[in-house]
Amino acid sequence: MCGIIGYIGKKDAVPIIMRGLRRLEYRGYDSAGVSVLNHGCAIEMRKAVGVLDNLFSAVDKNPLAGPLGIGHTRWATHGVPSSENCHPHFDCTGNIMVVHNGIIENFKELKDELIKKGHRFSSETDTEITAHLIEEALSAGAADLEAAVRACIARIEGSYALGIFRKDEPHTLIGVRQGSPLVVGIGKDEYFISSDVSAIVESTRQIIYLDDGEIITMKTGGYHITDFKGNKVKGVVKKVTWDVEALDKAGFEKYMLKEIHEQPNIIRQNLRMRVTKDKKGVAFDDFTISDDVLKKISKIYIVSCGTAYYAGFTGKYLMEHFTSLPVEIDLASEFRYRKPKLLNENTLIIAVSQSGETADTLASVYEAKGKGCKVLAICNVVGSTLTRESDGTIYINAGPEISVASTKAYTGQLLSIYLFTIYLAKLKGEMTAAAAAALIKELEAVPNKMEKIMRGEQEIIEIAKKYCKAKSAFYLGRGFNYPNALEGALKNKEISYMHAEGYAAGEMKHGPIALIDENFPVVCIATKGSTYDKMISNMKEVEARKGRIIAISSNGDKNVPQIAETVISVPETAEEVSPLVNIMPLQLLAYYIAQYKGCDIDKPRNLAKSVTVE
Ligand code: G6P
Repeated sequence: MCGIIGYIGKKDAVPIIMRGLRRLEYRGYDSAGVSVLNHGCAIEMRKAVGVLDNLFSAVDKNPLAGPLGIGHTRWATHGVPSSENCHPHFDCTGNIMVVHNGIIENFKELKDELIKKGHRFSSETDTEITAHLIEEALSAGAADLEAAVRACIARIEGSYALGIFRKDEPHTLIGVRQGSPLVVGIGKDEYFISSDVSAIVESTRQIIYLDDGEIITMKTGGYHITDFKGNKVKGVVKKVTWDVEALDKAGFEKYMLKEIHEQPNIIRQNLRMRVTKDKKGVAFDDFTISDDVLKKISKIYIVSCGTAYYAGFTGKYLMEHFTSLPVEIDLASEFRYRKPKLLNENTLIIAVSQSGETADTLASVYEAKGKGCKVLAICNVVGSTLTRESDGTIYINAGPEISVASTKAYTGQLLSIYLFTIYLAKLKGEMTAAAAAALIKELEAVPNKMEKIMRGEQEIIEIAKKYCKAKSAFYLGRGFNYPNALEGALKNKEISYMHAEGYAAGEMKHGPIALIDENFPVVCIATKGSTYDKMISNMKEVEARKGRIIAISSNGDKNVPQIAETVISVPETAEEVSPLVNIMPLQLLAYYIAQYKGCDIDKPRNLAKSVTVE
C-alpha cells in the first residue's frame, strides 16, 4: 500500500531509487514519482500516472540526477490517481519534499487550518499537509529540518512512514516511522530508507528495522535515531541473509509462476529445518513461547486477511482435528469490531500474515494483547511489525513474494500451521509419536507430489483455454478442502477478473445452485477422504443442472470422471494433508486463465500486496 524509498550518499540517487521502486511496485501502481536535489542544489522532480514504466519513460525523456532523493509508488487512498496527487508532495515554496505511506487521519482539519494561514495546496492527498506543517515550523523558528519534522508529527494522527528532504539542508535525509513499515539501509558513506528490504538489498545488507515512534536523520557523515520526544535510540543493525537472486524471475514469465514453482523446495527446506532427527516431532529454534505457557492455552483465535485468512481457516480444521482446543478463525477486519469472548492470558492469538504489515491484522493483535492474550505470528517477512509485536514467531521462510497474488506464502503458512499443530498436540499429550511420525511422513511426500502436478502443467493450460471465456465460476470443497476452495476462487478472481465464488459444497443447494446452467464452470475438489461420498453427491446435483464440472480428483479414481466434464488428477494424499497438494492445480488454473485473458498477472488492477491501511 504505497512504497517509499530514499537515498543520500555520493552516488547518483536516481538509478538507486528507480531500481528500488521496481521492487516496491507490488505495493501500488496507480502512479509513481521521484524527486532529487541535483548537484547544483536545485530540486528536480518527475511524476507519472499509471504503472511504473510510465515514470521510467518520463525519466528517460527528461533525465535528472543528484546525490539525495526520494521516490514513491502509489496505491490511491485520498484522491484519484492523477499527476497532482502523485508523490513526492511539497510545501508552498516547493523546497520541502515528502513521500508518505499510510494515512493521516486528521488531515482535513489541519488542511483547513493551514489554508486559513494562507497555505496553497496542490493535491487532494492527506500527505501534502506534512510538507506544509514542516514549512510552518521552519518559519516559526525551528532550528533545522529535524526539529521541524518533530513539530509536524506532533500534530498529525494516523499511520505513516515518511521520507523527507529540503533544499536548504542539502546533506540531510529524514525518515519517520509510525504505524507503517520503514527500514534503513546502512552503506559505506551512504544511507537508504525503504518500505521494504527488497528495494535496497542490492545496495546493502546492513539493515535497521525502525520501530514505531522513531525518526532517523541521515547526513552524508553519519546518522542518528531518536524517538518522537527527541531521546536518542540505538538502532540495531541486522544482516539480511537471503539471496538477492530470490528477487529475480529466474526465467519464468511472471513472478507468480516462479513462486508457484518454488513451493516444493520451500516445503522441503522447512521440513528439514523443523522436523526432529527421529522424525517423530517438530522443533522451532526461533520460537519463544514457552511450553508452560502453551500448555495453559484453553482457546485459540486465528486472525488474518486475504489468502492468509484461508490458510488460517485450514488451521482451524487442523487444530480442532488434532487437539481438544476450541479454535476460531476471524477476518482481522471483523475480529476488532465484534466482541470475542475469553480473551485473556490463556488465549492464544495466531496471526497469519505474509508481510507482517497488514493493518487489520496488526490492529487485531494490539487489541488482543491489550486483553492479555499471547500472540503467535506465522509470518514471512523477517523483522516485520507483526513479528516484533508477537510473543513468538514461526517464520515460513518462503523468500520474498513479489507477485501480488499470494501462492508460496499460502502453502508456507499452511505448512507452518501443520507443524505447529503437531507440536501443540504432542505437547498436550493428544498426539502420539507414531501419529506425528505418520503425519510428518505425509508432509514429506508433498513436494514430490507438487512436482508431479507441475509436470502435468500443459494439461492445465489446455483446461484454462477451454474455460477462460466463462463469466463466472464456483469453487466447491468440503472439510479440509473447503478453505482451499475459497482460496482457489480468490486466486481466479484477483488475477483474471473472472467472477469466482468459493462455497462449502453442501451449501450449494441452499441458494447458489440456482445459478447453475450449461455455461457455468464448477471447480470441485473431490479427492479421497471422509467427505468424498458427499462431494460426489454434490457434484451429481451440479451435473443434473448441466453445470460444467472441473474436478480435482485422486489419481485412479473411477467415479469422478463419470460425472465431471474435465478432470485434473492429483496424487493421492492423506485427507488432512491434501490441501497442500490440491491447491497447486487451482493456482495454475487461475494463472493460465489470467494469461489467456491477457491480464497483468503480477500486478492485478486495484490490488496491492501489502495493505497497510484499515
Ligand atoms: C493483500 C494481498 C493478499 C494477502 C493479503 C493479506 O490483500 O493482495 O495477497 O493475502 O493482503 O496480506 P498478509 O501480508 O497479511 O498476508
